[in-house]
Amino acid sequence: MQTKCFRIASLQQDAAYIQQAAGVIRAGGLVAFPTETVYGLGANALDEQAVKKIFLAKGRPQDNPLIVHISSLEMLSPLVKEVPQKANELMRRYWPGPLTIVMKRTERIPAAISAGLDTVAVRFPSNPIAKALIEASGVPIAAPSANLSGSPSPTTAYHVMQDMDGRIEMVLDGGECEFGVESTVVSIAGDTAHLLRPGAVTAEMLREIYPDLVISKAVLDKLEDGQKAESPGMKYKHYAPKAHVVIVDASAQDFARFVNTCGEDVYVLAYEEEVPGIQKPCITVGYYNNPQTQAHELFKKLRELDEVGATKAYIRAPRQDGMGLAVYNRLLRAAAFEVITLE
Ligand code: TXA
Ligand code: MG
Repeated sequence: MQTKCFRIASLQQDAAYIQQAAGVIRAGGLVAFPTETVYGLGANALDEQAVKKIFLAKGRPQDNPLIVHISSLEMLSPLVKEVPQKANELMRRYWPGPLTIVMKRTERIPAAISAGLDTVAVRFPSNPIAKALIEASGVPIAAPSANLSGSPSPTTAYHVMQDMDGRIEMVLDGGECEFGVESTVVSIAGDTAHLLRPGAVTAEMLREIYPDLVISKAVLDKLEDGQKAESPGMKYKHYAPKAHVVIVDASAQDFARFVNTCGEDVYVLAYEEEVPGIQKPCITVGYYNNPQTQAHELFKKLRELDEVGATKAYIRAPRQDGMGLAVYNRLLRAAAFEVITLE
């Protein structure tokens, strides 16, 4: 299959490309498109056969459910059994935006999307190209991140093409994604709200509405074999470059001393302000005190490790407040949970 890639510079001027892409979705094909978090790999969410193609193109395990994307609140009611009272406030504040809400699903949701669960994850993205595509398609769009299963999520159309060229019909190129890590996933299907995946809508922000928010154990801990994952996606090794990534829990000074004196051929994923102290090749990942900048760079820099042929890379553990929790959650998976602590 030949994959067409169209650059969308302006929604007005490039409206014909959006229409073409919507035609592909309605015909049961796959279109990768930008969102404010990462690029998504979209199919008609109401077409089971189309949804199955997503799993094939990504090499994704069948037991990992997909997020359904909508472009208006009216599109929500056919998908979910009920919207809990407090969820209205959640949606009012953070939709459209980088937040996915898991609720009890209706029978409209194909089995392939929910992977056997009685819930569905719904997101209303704010990216104008994403919204225009969903609107023009006239159907909700199921979309995981547009990477091969296991590799870092794509934040540019170039990354999408690296993984998906020849596997899907079309890519809409909307430039670099604003946030750089996937949406926050919160489940409100039970009695208490559970944070399943941290993102740009932070735990602190969610606690303003759900003071008793539970942070799912899988956010920071490796699940043992046989343990049930609340969010199936969190149990896989993920976001992993070919290089062996190791997280080091230490102060900036101790970290610099550690990497500078290690005899190995290593790369350092370094925070901008800490680069001057490090005498190994550095790839920067934003500023230590600004987790948003780290999120924006992380996946791109994990891919860069492969481009430079790195075999091993160290990174100092990031902060875990605000969006730092999202960065640390992704890094733990890129490092297969390998963290060393310096005394
Ligand atoms: O930012 C994003 O969320 C991107 C863009 C494209 O919207 N999408 C994305 O999709 O990251 P994906 O498939 O890579 O991640 C979806 C996550 C997985 O961890 C999955 O297990 C979880 O959401 N998930 C989906 N449906 C669920 C459900 N019903 N219950 C619990 N977790 C669910
Ligand atoms: Mg993904």
